Amino acid sequence: MKIGFFDSGLGGLTILKSVARELSEYEYVYYGDTANLPYGDKTEEEIYRLTVEGVRYLYRNDCVLVIIACNTASAETVRRLQVELLPTEYPDRKLLGVIVPTIELLEFSQPTKVALLATKRTIESKKYPRELDSKGNGNVILIEVSTPELVPLIEAGNNDEATRRAISRIEAEAGDSEVVVLGCTHYTQISYSLREYFRETKVIIAQDEVIPKKLESYLFNHPEITSRLTRGEERKIYLTKHRPDYDRLIGQFLGGVYLDKETEIGRDLNSLM
Ligand code: DGL
Repeated sequence: MKIGFFDSGLGGLTILKSVARELSEYEYVYYGDTANLPYGDKTEEEIYRLTVEGVRYLYRNDCVLVIIACNTASAETVRRLQVELLPTEYPDRKLLGVIVPTIELLEFSQPTKVALLATKRTIESKKYPRELDSKGNGNVILIEVSTPELVPLIEAGNNDEATRRAISRIEAEAGDSEVVVLGCTHYTQISYSLREYFRETKVIIAQDEVIPKKLESYLFNHPEITSRLTRGEERKIYLTKHRPDYDRLIGQFLGGVYLDKETEIGRDLNSLM
């Protein structure tokens, strides 16, 4: 069986890339809901409905563990899926989000002022401050900066403009923060340019660097899941809608590493089901 990744678009490929590099022995399936991107301005109910579809698809395609790589979907769905979907339909499968592992990293570094860059929906969900509180980090000042303008720019490959806008929002709204959390999978694409700009004045937390270690320790602690994972080279990408420029973008998001014969691009998800 495989590890599945769910994202609203191509952004989660950066997480898949770093995970598949570190844990290269396993097989992976990626579901990007490009037909419905962006999730950041959808309602909670819409996001839940779309995420259920993707998660069911991944389980049907032999995934024993699904990672909701999208922060917006993680914020709105993880707990609900664990309570409502899994026990009735997939009692022997597991599902994880990306927000809790990111918060756990903050616990470790104990900053006083943190900027969170995320989609409108992630910010409105209050998931990050609630998780911080529940882990006893209520003293951390979290400055939430809603940056929905970055996703379309990054999804179009315009990372320079996305970096410029992110910098100006951070400087205007969270200039004195010590840490910036990139709370959206797409933003990992600009983590290096932000680091280059802020240098030692701010620590930039990008989830493609957080998730592989967390997943590794999860698999270590859950042999009942790890023992069901097959070893192999399969990395499949399914997109709910294909566009000609995605071929280039997928290469960019994956760093060229996995765009090979093993990778299959679902041009029309329905025709594959
Ligand atoms: N990838 C999503 C996230 O991590 C954001 C993109 C969207 O708005 O769909 O939040």
